[in-house]
Amino acid sequence: MNCITKLETNSPKLTFLHRGKVRDSLRVDDNTRLIVVSDRISAFNKKIKTPIPNKGAVLNGIAGFWFEQTAHIIPNHVIRIIDPNLMLVKEATPLKVEMVVRGYLTGSMWRGYEEGQRNFSGTVVPDGLKKNQKFDAPVLTPTTKDDDDTEISPEEIIRTGLVSAEIWEQMKAATLAIFRFGSEYLASKGIVLVDTKYEFGLIDGKLILIDEIHTPDSSRFWRKSDYEANPDSAEQIDKEFVRQWMLANKIDGEVPLVLAPEVVAETTRRYEEIYEMVTGKKLLVPATELQTRIRENLGKEGLLAVEDLLSI
Ligand SMILES: Nc1ncnc2c1ncn2[C@@H]1O[C@H](COP(=O)(O)OP(=O)(O)OP(=O)(O)O)[C@@H](O)[C@H]1O
Ligand SMILES: [Mg+2]
Repeated sequence: MNCITKLETNSPKLTFLHRGKVRDSLRVDDNTRLIVVSDRISAFNKKIKTPIPNKGAVLNGIAGFWFEQTAHIIPNHVIRIIDPNLMLVKEATPLKVEMVVRGYLTGSMWRGYEEGQRNFSGTVVPDGLKKNQKFDAPVLTPTTKDDDDTEISPEEIIRTGLVSAEIWEQMKAATLAIFRFGSEYLASKGIVLVDTKYEFGLIDGKLILIDEIHTPDSSRFWRKSDYEANPDSAEQIDKEFVRQWMLANKIDGEVPLVLAPEVVAETTRRYEEIYEMVTGKKLLVPATELQTRIRENLGKEGLLAVEDLLSI
């Protein structure tokens, strides 16, 4: 099976904007951007060289599902999904705050807690909590959206003018409402939404949800059964398998950045399983060869002409 690892073109309708760890962004016009969700994967904050077939389609499909399901709570940037790996979105002015929200004490917050930290982005948590313990109510731990992702309190966010007080209240309310909606929905599917991160933007001064929502790349998922059986060692459904394999196959003390074929196959299987658990549907990807399919779908939108080059 082939993969999409990037999207490069000389089409005058698509201008390269940004390449993240997983997604490429291209400008269509002042109001529209194309998000390409590739099959790239990262682990331990490193870029892995081997792509995972269908991972991009799974992430794009899951984001699309949640944007649709939560549109009654907060409007979002989706215009339409034009291909399993491509989403056309409205260009917004991004707010420079990452809205991190946590239902459980784990990850970087647990590492800080173990070292004695009690104040997280302005919220003080009590002593005596255990690793992976559920909070009485979800905790907001916003960070700045820059290279360091520094914790920042709501007071600082407003004082420094990152976001106005009025928009902050709306962002906070939307964050808690969609986190609650997602947590309840996923609980009914046997998944714990442990924590996640949302990004917001403004269009004509109005708040909308941008970026991605409740995907395995922006969220931590545990299997409910795993958490109940092993509360302090529950594993992230999507990436734990890859991470464990990398740790067990170090070369000269370094984790490998090329994955063995059987690891790739199992990782694809796990992503497809997550898609099915979340959406209740099997992932259906057309049998057409990827390059041909993407050419056709961009062509239908008038974004790529027959003579334009396309490299994926
Ligand atoms: N509708 C939108 N309008 C404007 N900017 C957007 C929109 N949706 C997402 N973005 C921005 O596009 C960027 C997407 O970047 P992406 O997530 O691919 O990489 P990154 O955040 O730089 O790095 P990482 O791979 O670690 O996430 C983010 O800065 C996000 O705020
Ligand atoms: Mg990002």
